[in-house]
Amino acid sequence: MKVSASFLSCQKIIPAIKKLSLTDVDYIHVDFIDGKFVVGKTIPFRKLKQISKVSSKRLDIHLMTNQLTKYIKKFALLNCEYITFHVEVGENIEKYIQTIHDYGIKCGLAINPSTDLEIIKPYLPMVDMVLVMSVVPGYGGQEFMPESVEKVKKLRNYLKEKELDVVVNIDGGITDKTIRDVKPFVDMVVSGSYITNSDDFQDRINRLRG
Ligand code: DX5
Ligand code: ZN
Repeated sequence: MKVSASFLSCQKIIPAIKKLSLTDVDYIHVDFIDGKFVVGKTIPFRKLKQISKVSSKRLDIHLMTNQLTKYIKKFALLNCEYITFHVEVGENIEKYIQTIHDYGIKCGLAINPSTDLEIIKPYLPMVDMVLVMSVVPGYGGQEFMPESVEKVKKLRNYLKEKELDVVVNIDGGITDKTIRDVKPFVDMVVSGSYITNSDDFQDRINRLRG
């Protein structure tokens, strides 16, 4: 199971990124919130751009905006493994998937807690990852929504049935406790405050991997 570390709840981003770089975390999860598509903590692109300068870790970008043409282009220049956007943008989804793939970057599709899994199904043959939100996006440090367990289980079963090779990832409120129920159904987890609220990031990452 892979671990992608989010720094959204950190006050000082660059020191947190430097500390994460010293761990064996798989990816750095970069939350981009424009304050319109999702209300919450916004960190401007110019600041996020600095991450690639202080870390050689591959980035896992989570775009919470519907200005996708503009931001895919900007983030694609960084050291990205994945660029993920929300199915809730509702239009031009296939076009954005193609744009991300044209940059040679893997594409993820995120789904909010209130959105039915059915909505995402037509796109599954085209994407590399699904990011199941286990909190309402906007802030780090929120409580895990337990109904997300059923969602990742259903998604995993559906992918198996259709023989689709798509990474199942979960984002929001992941700790050493909440991970237990989702672990059988996911390939990757995003974890923020659980890792960065500790002095020992590596210990928290080890606990998540179990
Ligand atoms: C929520 C973000 C998450 C969040 C994860 O909008 O997408 O990535 O920062 O942080 P924790 O693990 O603290 O919930
Ligand atoms: Zn995120």
